[in-house]
Amino acid sequence: MSVPKAGFEPLHIKGKTLLPIVQGGMGVGVSAHRLAGTVASLGALGTISSVDLRRHHPDLMAKTAHSRDRALIDAINLEALEREVHAALALSNGKGAVAVNVMRAVSAYADYVRCACEAGAHAVVVGAGLPLDLPELTSEHPNVALIPILSDARGTGLVIKKWMRKHRLPDAVVIENPRYAAGHLGAPTLDGISNPHFAFPEVIEGTLALFKELGLEREKIPIIAAGGIHTHEQVRELIGLGATAVQLGTPFAVTEEGDAHPNFKKVLVEACPDDIVTFMSVAGLPARAVRTPWLADYLDKEAKLQRVAKARKCTVGFDCLQQCGLRDGIAKQGQFCIDQRLAYALAGDVKRGLFFRGSEALPFGKAIRPARELIEYMLTGTVGAQGTDGASDATARFDEAA
Ligand SMILES: Cc1cc2nc3c(=O)[nH]c(=O)nc-3n(C[C@H](O)[C@H](O)[C@H](O)COP(=O)(O)O)c2cc1C
Ligand code: SF4
Repeated sequence: MSVPKAGFEPLHIKGKTLLPIVQGGMGVGVSAHRLAGTVASLGALGTISSVDLRRHHPDLMAKTAHSRDRALIDAINLEALEREVHAALALSNGKGAVAVNVMRAVSAYADYVRCACEAGAHAVVVGAGLPLDLPELTSEHPNVALIPILSDARGTGLVIKKWMRKHRLPDAVVIENPRYAAGHLGAPTLDGISNPHFAFPEVIEGTLALFKELGLEREKIPIIAAGGIHTHEQVRELIGLGATAVQLGTPFAVTEEGDAHPNFKKVLVEACPDDIVTFMSVAGLPARAVRTPWLADYLDKEAKLQRVAKARKCTVGFDCLQQCGLRDGIAKQGQFCIDQRLAYALAGDVKRGLFFRGSEALPFGKAIRPARELIEYMLTGTVGAQGTDGASDATARFDEAA
């Protein structure tokens, strides 16, 4: 049974006609083949996060569990990424599209990009830094769509102008608002997260003006808005402003098909507004997550840890980040091992994990529902026989607390 389109124009990417709902990439392992493949099978764009996917493969984990050999860990992770892309494509049944998300800030960025293209991903989506070199990295795969994640019209302009000199255009741009989104946020500092210049109306208008200035028809580069989108009305509003599609992270993480442990989903759905905090990540970007026992304890000690920060060896030998606050002793950045903490969260370790989450209410409140219902609700405002009771409950809960 296909998902109703509810009168919205489709999202066209590299000749594919997709529903205008995108499932954002979520690491470590939160969006792997099951979630991305299911979303694609429904006719939308599903995204696998490329980071440290060996954690979904016990045989691959066994080969690296006690290893401090970065080359081996990278090779094993590339094998895991290839497996996950193949599995998602198989699950998609030839429908929708499967993307791979790669963070510009990770050490294996270029290898992950190449592996995603070779494995048959339809798109590569890059955030956490400006992917100025993406056209060269993917030049042998001209049919793979390239989608940068940006947060303002200035960054979008920088990427597009640089790519135009290389005779390439993005196939879409994700505009992610740091005020609401989960995980790493596209603002230079913690104080900058709520800067009104990131507001959707301003950024979408600025991006459309930029397209005009560069002589680009707006249909050429669809705008995908992301961050805090949890109601059908918001989808209508954003599309009215000039977006072609919306991207959701947190609401997809807690669907039945979300690839993380059930405890992970429980932590996200049960978090109240006061439990959701922002802080500096080791990657040098602000981040948003749930204040779980480990994060509360870390934040209490953060200032002290930053005072004594000094360069040291990577705690697990993986050297996952190009620049790591903990390993490189950068006092203004986070002082914890993000790979280890995200892996605990993926496995459902509530005490020790780091649980990324957006700031807003969830479409179905505390309910864990199939991805299909989420897409249907976002497109139509209703879901089958059960309606959207959860949605209004959740909105009320957050509005009261605001
Ligand atoms: C658990 C989790 C992990 C995430 N990890 C990544 C990531 O690895 N790379 C990335 O570009 N975005 C990541 N995101 C951001 C999402 O892709 C999405 O753009 C964002 O969550 C949208 O905001 P929302 O959660 O309010 O819908 C993550 C989000 C969550 C909830
Ligand atoms: S210490 Fe830093 S570079 Fe090493 S695995 Fe942890 S987060 Fe990555």
